[in-house]
Amino acid sequence: MNLYTAVPRSDVTTASPVLASVPARTPSKYVFTPALAREMEPIYERVKNVVTPMEWMQYAPLVKEINELKKERNAVILAHNYMTPEIFHCVGDIRGDSLQLAKEAARVDADVIVQAGVHFMAETSKLLNPDKTILIPDMAAGCSLASSITAEDVRMLRDAYPGVPIVTYVNTSAAVKAECDITCTSSNAVKVVESMGAPRVLLIPDQYLAKYVATQTKVEIITWAGACEVHERFTGAELDAYRVSDPGIKIIAHPECPPDVIAASDFTGSTAAMINWVKDNRPKKVVLVTECSMASNVAAETPDVEFVRPCNLCPHMKRISLEKIRDSLLYLQHEVHVDPEVAVRARRAVERMVNLTN
Ligand code: 13P
Ligand code: SF4
Repeated sequence: MNLYTAVPRSDVTTASPVLASVPARTPSKYVFTPALAREMEPIYERVKNVVTPMEWMQYAPLVKEINELKKERNAVILAHNYMTPEIFHCVGDIRGDSLQLAKEAARVDADVIVQAGVHFMAETSKLLNPDKTILIPDMAAGCSLASSITAEDVRMLRDAYPGVPIVTYVNTSAAVKAECDITCTSSNAVKVVESMGAPRVLLIPDQYLAKYVATQTKVEIITWAGACEVHERFTGAELDAYRVSDPGIKIIAHPECPPDVIAASDFTGSTAAMINWVKDNRPKKVVLVTECSMASNVAAETPDVEFVRPCNLCPHMKRISLEKIRDSLLYLQHEVHVDPEVAVRARRAVERMVNLTN
C-alpha cells in the first residue's frame, strides 16, 4: 500500500438542506380491493419473496397511483440499490448504483426525474439535466460523507497540495464537486485515480474508500477523514464470527467499509458489483456487508440464496417512502436546484467521469 495521509475532519456535521414546508400527507386515492389485488398481481410477483401479503395491502394502492402519476407527469423514477423492495422493484424505472444512476440520468427522456435516493444523487441528476425538473421526495435525505466536507475545505486542500489532482467521490455536494477535477464512484475509483496520470492524488472525502483504492494502485493517495455512517459500523470481528458459525459462508463488502472488514471479505465492490457477484456465483449463504435493504432487493430475485443480514440501515435513504414519492409526483415537490455558476464547474467534474467510463 502507498503512503496514506489523513487530513483533519471538517467541523461541518449537519446533513442536507432542511425542508421549509411540507403539505400534509394524504392517503392513496385507491383502496385495496380484490379487483385491485388482481390487477396488481404481476407487480406483486416481483417482490412476493420479500414483501408479505399484509404489507402489500398497504403498498399496492400507492404503487398503482405512482405508476399512473408517472405517465401523467412524463416522469421517471431513478431508484438506488438501497431503496426498499416496494420502491426498487415496483415503481423504480431505472435502478442501480451511483454510477449507473448518474449515467442513466444523462440519457433520460422525461420532463420530470424523481430521485429515489439521497440529495447528492438528485443534485447529480440536475447537473446532467439542467432543463428538467428534478424532484427528491424528502429534502432532508442527506449523507454523512457529503456533510463531512465543504467547498472551502477543498480550496484549503488545493492550497496545501499544489498541483495534486483532486478526485471527489460522488457522495458530495455540487459545491464540493465544483472545486474538484473529477468525480468517481465506488465502481470506478481506481480507474479515475489512475486516469489523472499523477504520482499523487487527493481522493476525498471517504477515508475508507481511499484506503481501499490505495491497495489497488501504485498512485499515492491522500484523503480526508470522512466516513459513511452505515459502513463504518461494521467490524472485522463481526465477520469472523459469521465465518465461525458457518465456514462455507460468503462475505462480500462495499469499499466504504473499514480495512479490517474488507480484509475479512471474499469480494469487495460497488453495490452493483456486489449484486452481480451474488447473481453470478449463487452462493448458498451470503452476507452483504452494506446497507440492509439491498439484501432484500437481491433476495427478491434470488430465492435460492440465503442472506444473513447484519441490518445497518441508512437513515437518509430510509426517509424515502412510497407515500413521499406519490406526494412528490402529485405536488411536484421538492425541486432540486443548483446555483448555475456552481453547476457549470460541478458538471464538468461529473461529465469527465462519465466520459471516462463510457
Ligand atoms: P454505490 O451504489 O455507488 O456503490 O454507492 C453506495 C452508497 O453508499 C451510495 O450512497
Ligand atoms: Fe451516505 Fe452511507 Fe447513506 Fe450512502 S449509505 S447515503 S454513503 S450515509
